[in-house]
Amino acid sequence: MATKTTGYTESTEKISDNVYRAKESTNKGKSGKESLKKIFEELLQDTYNAEKQLTKALPELAKAVDNDELQEAYENHLKETEKQVQRLEKIFDRLKIQKEGKPCKAMEGLIKESQEIIKEHEHGASKDAALIIASQKVEHYEIAAYGSLVELADVLGLDNVADVLERTLEEEKNADELLSDIAQDVNDEAYGQASEVEQYANGIS
Ligand SMILES: [Fe+2]
Ligand SMILES: [Fe+2]
Repeated sequence: MATKTTGYTESTEKISDNVYRAKESTNKGKSGKESLKKIFEELLQDTYNAEKQLTKALPELAKAVDNDELQEAYENHLKETEKQVQRLEKIFDRLKIQKEGKPCKAMEGLIKESQEIIKEHEHGASKDAALIIASQKVEHYEIAAYGSLVELADVLGLDNVADVLERTLEEEKNADELLSDIAQDVNDEAYGQASEVEQYANGIS
């Protein structure tokens, strides 16, 4: 009898536990979807603001560098960035979301770093090397933003939007890889231009 009672109690507990979990997950599903939607919209606005800041910053970078390949990379990425802004605008229109949110402070800071390098370094390979590092920080920020946007769009069932954002994500990854390639030549050049004393010191450290 005791065993039967225990068995009955256990199974009842299991059932009620399952019902509770089912209810909990339904509630979570609703509120979770709402808050994910909000996170997605705010991230879209943040990224839109970041891209718009970049359309102003990229021409300054192209002007400041010495290496031709790097200059071309900045000019081409400016054209891509303008398209990325348009893609985001289409997404805002389609989802009926306001374009303007808070300014992207992270991008403001990253762009300021580049502007400081432009002011403080002499024209040449070392300046180019420093600007590539600053620009790769920007690309990594964008990769994180678009990677998250693609994931969120997927979860929210916005398949077409996810595809559009994925295209931009690939462009950001390619831009980052191209900067890594160019950095190899630019860093060699900067090292070659360093004085013998600097090279010796670098060799020791
Ligand atoms: Fe971008
Ligand atoms: Fe970018």
